[in-house]
Amino acid sequence: MCGIVGYIGEQEAYPILIKGLHRLEYRGYDSAGVSMINKAGVLSVYKSKGKVSALEASVADKDISGTIGIAHTRWATHGEPNATNAHPHFSQSKNLSLVHNGIIENYKSLRTELEKNGMTFCSETDTEVLVQLIEYTQITHNCDLYTAVQLALKSVIGAYAIAILDKRNPDQLICARKGSPLIIGVGANNGKKNGKAEFFLGSDATPIIEYTNKVVYLQDEEIAIMNREGDLRITNLSNVKQTPQLHTLQMNLDELEKGGYAHFMLKEIYEQPSALKICTKGRLNVNDKDVLLSGIIDHKEKFVNARRIIICACGTSWHSALIGKYFIEEAAQIPVEVEYASEFRYRNPVIFPDDVVIAVSQSGETADTLAAIQLAKSKGAFLYGICNVIGSSIPRATDSGTYLHVGPEIGVASTKAFTGQVITLIMLGLAIAKEKKTLSDELFHMLVDELQQIPDKMQWTLDHNKGIDQFAQMFTYARNFIYLGRGYNYPVALEGALKLKEISYIHAEGYPAAEMKHGPIALIDEEMPVVVIAPKRGMYDKIVSNIQEIKSRKGKIISVVTEGDTIVKGMSDYCFEIPDTRDCYVPLLAILPLQLLSYYVAIAKGRNVDQPRNLAKSVTVE
Ligand code: M6R
Repeated sequence: MCGIVGYIGEQEAYPILIKGLHRLEYRGYDSAGVSMINKAGVLSVYKSKGKVSALEASVADKDISGTIGIAHTRWATHGEPNATNAHPHFSQSKNLSLVHNGIIENYKSLRTELEKNGMTFCSETDTEVLVQLIEYTQITHNCDLYTAVQLALKSVIGAYAIAILDKRNPDQLICARKGSPLIIGVGANNGKKNGKAEFFLGSDATPIIEYTNKVVYLQDEEIAIMNREGDLRITNLSNVKQTPQLHTLQMNLDELEKGGYAHFMLKEIYEQPSALKICTKGRLNVNDKDVLLSGIIDHKEKFVNARRIIICACGTSWHSALIGKYFIEEAAQIPVEVEYASEFRYRNPVIFPDDVVIAVSQSGETADTLAAIQLAKSKGAFLYGICNVIGSSIPRATDSGTYLHVGPEIGVASTKAFTGQVITLIMLGLAIAKEKKTLSDELFHMLVDELQQIPDKMQWTLDHNKGIDQFAQMFTYARNFIYLGRGYNYPVALEGALKLKEISYIHAEGYPAAEMKHGPIALIDEEMPVVVIAPKRGMYDKIVSNIQEIKSRKGKIISVVTEGDTIVKGMSDYCFEIPDTRDCYVPLLAILPLQLLSYYVAIAKGRNVDQPRNLAKSVTVE
């Protein structure tokens, strides 16, 4: 989704802004723009459709100087993706330029009112309404810009993170947020670098980390003003002063680079064994055969006495939540419901005060997941967050939680966050089971021991499944894929299908294998690749029968089997092997070849793997 970068300080703003926009490309966007104020006080705005590189090319012969600036990557909501609708937007007088993330829901009525009062508009966007409203408020109230922003935002319904430049005051940068994240990076010496002040703005930490790890997370309905003297003042919309809380970012620059891989997605697939070791570090204690999740320890009674657990999530996070449901129900004997956050928030779901509601989200910013937990909070449930991005909105809105600690995930297609979520939900299930004594000591210890070995088994899986790149070439013809799994592997089928869809644009569906006979089997012919997750475990015989049913209709079988299996291998056109493990841990291994398959099919089809069309990394609009 949209991204914001901002800078005020001693350095030239443009290179910082452009680098920041490149860092934000992973979020998904369709146009980009920058705005600076130069020494002569000229406020420039340059925008273009397409990639940041197109913007760079378009400003090659322009004046891009200035030590204050804002920049934006736009993911279109109101108005088609073109240069006119791209941000920054000028106010009518061209004194102000503004960038905006989020959606202004009452923009139509605001625009009509402003037009009645003589304001004219160039674009179709809700954002232009904001900048015109701020200008109009400043004129009619004869007040300073900060006050005008406060007053204007009071009449706005919707979500926003904004940054504004005023050419009449090139020494200050103003920003505000509600429902859409905004981070202020404070330059060295608390905003003063060699005695000179320096502030950065980012819709997430990626454009900031290169310059400082000291940040302030702007809260909802807060407005901030920062100047070249190093002053940072924050108030709420009613002008009550807020004390900025300084945080230290837990991120390093290497994590934002491809590290020799062709794409972030490939790097993140191969990072999974090490990422999961970090995720489980200090949490899985093999010597004492224990699982220690501080988020649970501090709130034991909430989980032990929970009537029910409801997990809200979207996309890949929903798939990991489904695996979490199967495990928590099996191990801790608590009923678990898994809800699409976007559906849950608009129903009138029954939520009891003794329910625990868990939000699973890589970004911690998904608008529907955030709204779902806000609804649950209003009904008195205990909220728990399982997120990757530290300091994001969901962890800040929940009562307790666990971070994945798998490092920044830049590829739009979620990979290491998925396995990080699955292993975290398994640890959570084990931690509750321990408290509730629903597993024998022997079984509990075996589960802890085996879980500890999973990162090494993941490494084995990655090492032993070479050649997928060659094999993937054969499937560029396919218009459809079917993915089948049973039990714990049904969510793996869903996730494998989603991976293929989102980066190769091939239609794919995941089904519980036994459901085939109830409809999808009609699709099988000699053209249809069917991916079957068939480990030599629990329902092996049943899945073998399902494979036979496909074979006899000439479907092409691609299987994921346990190392050494010959039966399914013999029935398959192609086979990926994984080491043996317990049923509940198979998803952590079986998903790896499926991630690689989708990656290499997409590459063979010439797709932009890290930035697939129409997709955004964090979906901050509903
Ligand atoms: O940040 P979240 O985990 O809340 O995001 C949820 C989905 O938008 C996300 O998982 C999406 O489905 C991914 N692109 C899947 O690869």
